[in-house]
Amino acid sequence: MEIELLPPSAGAAVIARITALVNQVYAESEKGLWLGSTDRTSTDEVAGFVRAGEIAVAFVDGDVAGSVRVQRLDAATGEFGMLAADPARRGLGIGRELVRFAERASRDVGCREMQLELLVPREWTHPAKKFLAEWYDRLGYRVTHRADLAEDYPHLAPSLATPCDFLVYRKDLA
Ligand SMILES: CC(C)(COP(=O)(O)OP(=O)(O)OC[C@H]1O[C@@H](n2cnc3c(N)ncnc32)[C@H](O)[C@@H]1OP(=O)(O)O)[C@@H](O)C(=O)NCCC(=O)NCCS
Repeated sequence: MEIELLPPSAGAAVIARITALVNQVYAESEKGLWLGSTDRTSTDEVAGFVRAGEIAVAFVDGDVAGSVRVQRLDAATGEFGMLAADPARRGLGIGRELVRFAERASRDVGCREMQLELLVPREWTHPAKKFLAEWYDRLGYRVTHRADLAEDYPHLAPSLATPCDFLVYRKDLA
């Protein structure tokens, strides 16, 4: 497996593949949370992240096997999001290596903390979210903020199929 930050000049084919992968995996991991379309992203949005140098991709035998968005929130804080691994290649360490890559990239530019956000249903347990919460805990992330999504992002409230909490996790990179 090779992980690399996509160059701003990356072509339309790889952008389309990342978009499809993210939407495919989020359709499953956010099942039941949203009304209507569950698309997490679009080729336009991913192309913008690529131009900003924020998309890292895991290639296996030349194929896109996973991706993550890495950004800098402020001088001391990095964030990763839109983490996705090919369902046909789960459990091979692609997710773990993408998180490691994001943490290393953030540390290299001077960040001392890493952040991620997780959306969870408030009144029931979503198996994919339970897995993620336990996995992020094993990776050293702790919840530092919990809010009602509809309060923090009122424009999203009409799209929610169920009340959701918005969790912010942080990890010390030192
Ligand atoms: C989260 C995700 C990227 C992990 O990808 P992955 O390549 O399978 O990750 P890894 O192979 O590194 O495995 C992650 C952990 O899951 C465990 N695991 C993997 N497959 C498993 C399985 N079938 N059953 C139980 N545990 C499993 C691994 O042991 C590992 O735990 P460890 O690091 O403590 O050993 C992937 O599940 C995914 O794309 N999910 C949908 C999108 C999503 O929810 N993104 C995050 C939004 S915040």
